[in-house]
Amino acid sequence: MTVIRKIFYPIISKDPMSKNSITQKLFRIKSFVSQLVVKRMQKIVLEFIPEGNIIDIGGGGEGIIAQIGKERVTAIDKYQREIDEAKHKSPETTWVLADAKDLDYSNDYFDNATSFFSIMYMSNVDKIDVFKEVYRVLKPHGEFWIWDSNISKEKGVFFIKIKAVLPDKKVVRTGYGVSSKKQTINSTKETLENCGFKVEVVENQKNWFFLKAKK
Ligand SMILES: C[S@@+](CC[C@H](N)C(=O)[O-])C[C@H]1O[C@@H](n2cnc3c(N)ncnc32)[C@H](O)[C@@H]1O
Repeated sequence: MTVIRKIFYPIISKDPMSKNSITQKLFRIKSFVSQLVVKRMQKIVLEFIPEGNIIDIGGGGEGIIAQIGKERVTAIDKYQREIDEAKHKSPETTWVLADAKDLDYSNDYFDNATSFFSIMYMSNVDKIDVFKEVYRVLKPHGEFWIWDSNISKEKGVFFIKIKAVLPDKKVVRTGYGVSSKKQTINSTKETLENCGFKVEVVENQKNWFFLKAKK
């Protein structure tokens, strides 16, 4: 998804058949812009991803983890268009259309798991189901690495610009935008712990965080 479409998708996608659609869209754009929170470019250096076979949650879009881990990665995404956008960047990856709340894998199947700016796209209720599913499919002592946004506002629209530096020094510039919901490193840590994980590494930046949790 282009950055412009990512920002405006929540408004341009509504009632396209409406007679007053132009006026309504302009009105929505005006109120949308007034509620928009845009964080300036955040540089994230990805030196490592976990070892072994990895399940990457919400792995479409830029497919950052797939681009690094290639054939070691099983990338799960609930939208085919997001998979289609990413899969040519890493054809070796296993691309799976599925909701991470209900994974078609046996218990203890994957060595490790990742999520790169995907949990901000889930409601706080859905996160609980997803974390429980990730816990189930991870092997004992498997790790779940999460990079995501600190979002302080509960209303409006949140957009974060990212400059990701991959281990081979490739630079990916992108942006991730969602309807706001409160999401902090502490709320995410607490949800992980309630789902059975032990949170072992916590790195908090102003606008984003990195967590490593162990089964
Ligand atoms: C910002 S996008 C892509 C981020 C991606 N990790 C990357 O490297 O660019 C977040 C993705 O999470 C996916 N997603 C959100 N909730 C999901 C769920 N419950 N199951 C699977 N995918 C989900 C969305 O479809 C979307 O493609």
